[in-house]
Amino acid sequence: MIAPHGGTLVNRIVNSKDRNRMEKEASGLYRVTLDSWTLSDMQCIGIGAFSPLTGFMNEEDYNGVVERMRLANGLIWSIPITLAVTPEQANGIHLGDSVALQLETAEVFAILKVESVFKPDKWNEAQKVYRTTSLDHPGVKKLFNRPDVYIGGPIELLETPHGGAFSRYTFNPEETREIFREKGWKTVVGFQTRNPVHRAHEYIQKSALEIVDGLFLNPLVGETKADDIPADVRMKSYEILLKNYYPMDRTFLGVFPAAMRYAGPREAVFHAMVRKNYGCTHFIVGRDHAGVGDYYGTYEAQEIFKQFTDHDLGIKLFFFEHSFYCKKCAGMASYKTCPHSSEEHIVLSGTKVRNMLKEGVMPPPEFSRPEVIQTLIKGLRIE
Ligand code: ADX
Repeated sequence: MIAPHGGTLVNRIVNSKDRNRMEKEASGLYRVTLDSWTLSDMQCIGIGAFSPLTGFMNEEDYNGVVERMRLANGLIWSIPITLAVTPEQANGIHLGDSVALQLETAEVFAILKVESVFKPDKWNEAQKVYRTTSLDHPGVKKLFNRPDVYIGGPIELLETPHGGAFSRYTFNPEETREIFREKGWKTVVGFQTRNPVHRAHEYIQKSALEIVDGLFLNPLVGETKADDIPADVRMKSYEILLKNYYPMDRTFLGVFPAAMRYAGPREAVFHAMVRKNYGCTHFIVGRDHAGVGDYYGTYEAQEIFKQFTDHDLGIKLFFFEHSFYCKKCAGMASYKTCPHSSEEHIVLSGTKVRNMLKEGVMPPPEFSRPEVIQTLIKGLRIE
């Protein structure tokens, strides 16, 4: 089985023995309410999806990640994982304190031991992580909408995250590793998506599956931008697609609870490290991975990996070129394998497809499986 990032799978969920004591302790602590973005990060840390992180980043790790894509201990990490509080809140928080992290319902979910309180340079973070400071970029906008002080330190979760509406498809990395082992998969390719799976996705997934033992379809279900298709609708579309078109003994569906950053290249590296933690030996990066608008070049999210050694990454990458249905080839292909002109290719933008779906218009079957489209149209209508 592939080693998790940093060698040890983190588990920050307290055992039942300590839970009562910690819950009592928490009642007297300073409280910080988490937004849904930070809540999902906290869950990912707790279950070990973000191994080797044991908490929100302290200043040293944060600086290393922003400037060099490395944690203070030298391990690759490309996205800051931070807890933001207002300057007023920060005045009440001191180094060495324990702080209770609560949900909007006031239920305490975790306790953080404060190791670091610092004011980030958000312009620098935006430029280095997102490669832009434009507030039109959804990730940058989110960054600037968050409060201005970060507090870092290890966390302990008082509860095991169950995944809410997606509990059936929620697994921690320890569980996915066990499942892959039971299935006898020695090699597993991870697939990140925030979209319904269309034919090009299916093509690159199945091309990878020709080489490895299993496919881990790992859709992101944390916060996404408002015009992305909601995760609950997408989940139904994955179910119907897998049932009709995928070998179920070689495919496994489980959600990735994190929020989408739209940080393109940096997020591709982050996505790969997380999938390594879930037990994947391989990870797919196609065209404009985790991109948005025109902020990143088509293959920038592949090129970024050149600066790392295979040893440091610890997971193998499958890079795919832009794929599509070609009328002349009468099948799926990519710019790498198809000799025909782009007039022969069926390529639809995400925006165009979303508009078609909202109007109840079916995109062609060469673009997406009809069962998937029907599920999406139905799901979007109910909304
Ligand atoms: S992402 O934001 O999660 O990356 P999306 O769900 O569209 O968006 O993409 C999932 C994966 O499929 C990414 O690795 C992306 O690069 C790849 N991909 C999406 N569309 C294509 C395509 N037409 N050709 C090749 N790769 C693609």
